[in-house]
Amino acid sequence: MPQLVGALTSGGVRTALDLFSGTSRVGHALKREGVRVHANDCNAYAHTLARCYVAADARRWRVPAARLIAELAVLPGEPGWFTDTYCVRSRYLKPDNGARVEAIRNRIAVLALEPELEAIALTSLVEAADRVDSTVGVQMAYLKQWAARAQNPLRLRLPELLDGDGSASCLDAVEAAGRFEADVVYLDPPYNQHSYLGNYHVWETLVRWDAPEVYGIACKRIDVRERGSAFNRRGLIADALAAVLGRVCARRIVVSFNDEGYLELPLLRELLATRGEVSEVSVDHPRYIGHRLGVYNPQGEKVGTPGPARNREHLFVVECAGALSAR
Ligand SMILES: C[S@@+](CC[C@H](N)C(=O)[O-])C[C@H]1O[C@@H](n2cnc3c(N)ncnc32)[C@H](O)[C@@H]1O
Repeated sequence: MPQLVGALTSGGVRTALDLFSGTSRVGHALKREGVRVHANDCNAYAHTLARCYVAADARRWRVPAARLIAELAVLPGEPGWFTDTYCVRSRYLKPDNGARVEAIRNRIAVLALEPELEAIALTSLVEAADRVDSTVGVQMAYLKQWAARAQNPLRLRLPELLDGDGSASCLDAVEAAGRFEADVVYLDPPYNQHSYLGNYHVWETLVRWDAPEVYGIACKRIDVRERGSAFNRRGLIADALAAVLGRVCARRIVVSFNDEGYLELPLLRELLATRGEVSEVSVDHPRYIGHRLGVYNPQGEKVGTPGPARNREHLFVVECAGALSAR
């Protein structure tokens, strides 16, 4: 992270646009450095994290959020559709915790909170549920036996809010690239077939609270099949990235990519060179936890052998030839 933050902020950067914000940990680190950040992600759960960690100003929200979270934390469980779907039909959370998640989420819905306060409460809830879930980190499957941490009681915490302004959007990256400008744009797109919506479908449902139709043993939302990202498709990723790069309006573009992606690195370098001078560092990275713990089938049984424990993450820095894009 320090290397990335250094690459993003060097040379007096004051504004940043993170087009694939995910957990918002990069936007949060930049905000901590005094950079004004706009965070974008096409999934609702990631947009919620962005509104909490990037957009919400702690000076305005810390006190009311702490009060609200204390109130939500003591609600008794209220089992319903969520508990039945994710704790009985599938087994992501123990039913006691699932029923408390459900009561808290129902209460947040009834309160009709201001958007930033709602995002803080939802982030607190998603993170609390994440700490007691029974998966290897992604929701492609749950474990056959309950994980030890799933036995712990759900505990809400106040997310680490930061002072200052920021903003967030929930758009496709191609659209967001054309709408917002900044000194530096950060691109950390998906690089293979694994859909973030499919991997975190329970958090998407918890945030949207739309009781969707679900399918399969994993009880994925039906729209996982329809809301595919071009960045998860071997045949589409190059054009999608070229479209983003063609629209970005910035002095610098920083791109994270790893050597196991659908896009060959020589082609990526070629695309980046259309915007300016490219420099590159590569960082050895531990792979995601599933690769370390093993590969499981939807029944939670261990199958196959995990790949190597480490891969290489490439960081590309493009100093743009012209500040404005050709759009
Ligand atoms: C590799 S992750 C980003 C991780 C992030 N940098 C972090 O530190 O957590 C890629 C993100 O891109 C989002 N995404 C996928 N396709 C997208 C698209 N077409 N437009 C915008 N966001 C997209 C996913 O929801 C996911 O959060």
